[in-house]
Amino acid sequence: MRYTTLLRVITPPMGTLAVIVLLMLIDSAAALVQPWLAGQVTGTLLGTDTSGLSVLLLAWLGLAASKSLLTFFSGYLVGATGEEMSARLRTRIYEHLQILPMDYFHGRQQGETLALLTRDAEIIAYFITSTLVQLLPLMITFFGAFIMMALIDPLIAGLTLLLMPLYYLAMKLIGRGIRPLSTDWVNAWSKMYAFAEENLGMLAAIKAFTRETFESGRFARKNETLRRLSTRQLRIQSALTSSVAFLATAGLLLLVWLGARQMQQGALDAAELVSLLLYAMLMTRPISGLAGVYGEVQRTRGAAERLLDCFARRPEPDSTSQRGLAVAGGAIVFEDVSFAYAGRAPAVRDIRLEIAAGETVGIIGPNGAGKSTLAWLLMRFAEPDRGRILIDGMDISGVSLHSLRGQIGLVPQHTLLLNASVAENIAYGLPDAKMSAIRAAAVAARADDFIQALPEAYDTLIGDQGVRLSGGQRQRISLARTLLKDPPIIVLDEATSMFDPQGEKDFLAECADILAGKTVLMITHRPVALSIADRVVELHDGQIAY
Ligand SMILES: Nc1ncnc2c1ncn2[C@@H]1O[C@H](COP(=O)(O)OP(=O)(O)OP(=O)(O)O)[C@@H](O)[C@H]1O
Ligand SMILES: [Mg+2]
Repeated sequence: MRYTTLLRVITPPMGTLAVIVLLMLIDSAAALVQPWLAGQVTGTLLGTDTSGLSVLLLAWLGLAASKSLLTFFSGYLVGATGEEMSARLRTRIYEHLQILPMDYFHGRQQGETLALLTRDAEIIAYFITSTLVQLLPLMITFFGAFIMMALIDPLIAGLTLLLMPLYYLAMKLIGRGIRPLSTDWVNAWSKMYAFAEENLGMLAAIKAFTRETFESGRFARKNETLRRLSTRQLRIQSALTSSVAFLATAGLLLLVWLGARQMQQGALDAAELVSLLLYAMLMTRPISGLAGVYGEVQRTRGAAERLLDCFARRPEPDSTSQRGLAVAGGAIVFEDVSFAYAGRAPAVRDIRLEIAAGETVGIIGPNGAGKSTLAWLLMRFAEPDRGRILIDGMDISGVSLHSLRGQIGLVPQHTLLLNASVAENIAYGLPDAKMSAIRAAAVAARADDFIQALPEAYDTLIGDQGVRLSGGQRQRISLARTLLKDPPIIVLDEATSMFDPQGEKDFLAECADILAGKTVLMITHRPVALSIADRVVELHDGQIAY
């Protein structure tokens, strides 16, 4: 079941992979001809008639040329397919991340998700295109070489086969540490990535509290852990390859000794011995190849686990499967709604609240009272544990998210902006909006004046999260973005908390026009903002205080 999920997510290009395997198989077969040719050449050289030598050498040259071509094509295909697969996997993961519910992201570090998107996607794609497709050709080389040896001298071939368990045992013994190590390595890598990601986002706080040295030290320790793990992995991998190489040479020498004995007894001639030795050498290639595969399998396991973990989370319901919400008036009813964030006490309890169409309701209450949670539930960023929410009499749990969110404008408490121009930020919900409409929204949000003063006015780039703007300016752009969307229901979550008093007053004075006919939830700590509310509701500890 997990493998089918994995296959469904990765969707390897089977056709291309089959071509790669085929090319590699031909390459393996060509490799099997070379020792035979070498034997023939030896035989001709030792014989009296050397007339066939040039034909043999020409044949060998032709074989080498075809092998080069094959190597080129399969190498290129492996690389290109790997790139294509990791690109496709990244897109697939990204699409899935976009439709996962918000609590998925609240339960983990962002760096972990980024590591999945970058590192893990690459590891998995690489494993399939480079490691997995090699398996069959390696086997063919191994058994092909064995069969050819058996044709020349069954006794020696049999003895060689008997050595194999020894090789396997050595490989397993030396390589057993690789698996836990590679899991640790990827974990350490994700941790370091996550750490840097978070840290760089809070540099101003780090500087303000003069914690630079402390944070650099923390990063250095994570980096050091990663280096130590890499070194240990390298040590094992090197030990593995060098011991396999030594064992292979030892095996070969044993073969020479056995072959020499067979020759003395007349059971083998020089040409056959040369072929035999070269076949034995060919057999060592798959053996060390398998040692590499072993390490890769362990590394990929961890990445696949994390991928499955992400895809095991159910996405938000698909919009096409549910009916659309058509807001007429915009009356909202919270019907005994309770909700708790995972592992927390309820954030809101038994909320019973009826908001008439076109009404502006102020929502107040201390920090943590559950005000933003009400907006969270109305947007269906999470579903209530109990009770239901109705808009114009329709239970929102049964309507498509697209239609629901399309008709509610939320100005969130924490402003979220893109690293793009002012105009692009305002038009985020309506990418086709005309410049005149964007400007009108900015004027309504009291943002036009300061935007005009920016170096490139509406085309000014504002930096990550709008870092090149003041807090109040960011908030005004966020407000303009929602006003441009012009939805029938508006939720203002502390939307003017950073406005200067005059700006807030100006905005509120015009609110009657701007918000006319809309249902408005005005979450605020500011008494002045309440002046436009028809009614004020107070929350305390997740409950409505009467
Ligand atoms: N993502 C979350 N995961 C877990 N608990 C949360 C989460 N977001 C909020 N909470 C908790 O839920 C409770 C209600 O939070 P909420 O954000 O609704 O408060 P609020 O009334 O908007 O406060 P404020 O005035 O500070 O904005 C708080 O106790 C808070 O700690
Ligand atoms: Mg809040």
